[in-house]
Amino acid sequence: MNDALSLNHLTIQLSGHTVLSDISLTIAANRFVGVLGPNGAGKSTLMRAILGLVRPSGGTISVLGADVAAGNARIGYMPQVRTTNLSLPLRGYDFVASAVEGHRWGIFWPTRKVRAEVQWALDLVEGSGLADRPLRDLSGGERQRLLLAQALIGRPQLLLLDEPLAGLDPRHQQAVVRLVGQIRKELAATVLFSAHDINPLLGALDEVLYLGRSHAVLGPVESVVTGPVLSRLYGTSIDVIRHRERIFVMAGNTAAEEADHVHDA
Ligand SMILES: Nc1ncnc2c1ncn2[C@@H]1O[C@H](COP(=O)(O)OP(=O)(O)O)[C@@H](O)[C@H]1O
Ligand SMILES: [Mg+2]
Repeated sequence: MNDALSLNHLTIQLSGHTVLSDISLTIAANRFVGVLGPNGAGKSTLMRAILGLVRPSGGTISVLGADVAAGNARIGYMPQVRTTNLSLPLRGYDFVASAVEGHRWGIFWPTRKVRAEVQWALDLVEGSGLADRPLRDLSGGERQRLLLAQALIGRPQLLLLDEPLAGLDPRHQQAVVRLVGQIRKELAATVLFSAHDINPLLGALDEVLYLGRSHAVLGPVESVVTGPVLSRLYGTSIDVIRHRERIFVMAGNTAAEEADHVHDA
């Protein structure tokens, strides 16, 4: 089987600022990978590069055994910036169906097939009850599930989910992680799931991809989320504290995600 993703000396510069520098790594098919790192570490940029929306300044990206191509139907994407016009009188069903109609790759689908596909995606996110509800009446967690359903249209083999836990309370965060785990199995897909905090993902992860100072470390949680590895990545002293099956990444006396000196931006 092809690898899901292979980066070969990947370098990305945006407006003269080096976001990612000479990154080489391979992610096997069918993995659940947490993409972690402080604000500005390059998580979103990496996903956009995999989609062909950002062009590397150096190196190459291979996705599911092929070169990056914009509009790759085998990739499902949930962007971090969610520009949903909530004043539209849109129902959940229409919102998910718009992903079929707006299919970047423009395959014509008969109505019956659209309906079946939308229903399938809604079922997968346990959202069939949202089909008839107006978007503007939904909670953040419910909208998040519809966005996830949109990303499933076309049954992608690689799912890029950019901070799907943002703005959700812990209970809804757990629900989203559990759903993504089920979906990954159902589709036999590889998942790249970016987050600020590793803890909600711990039970689901196969590997973590930590980004910092334009570099990256990939591997199982036990080998990557350690003081020495993260100190080297961030270029500052990091302590990793494990307590009651939770992990705290500390820079000095603050959680690293909140500490200014590990921010790269
Ligand atoms: N279009 C852009 N032009 C210039 N710099 C950008 C652009 N988009 C993002 N950046 C910068 O690239 C870095 C990485 O951003 P981003 O990928 O959004 O990080 P993350 O998703 O990890 O928070 C940041 O320093 C950000 O300011
Ligand atoms: Mg981001």
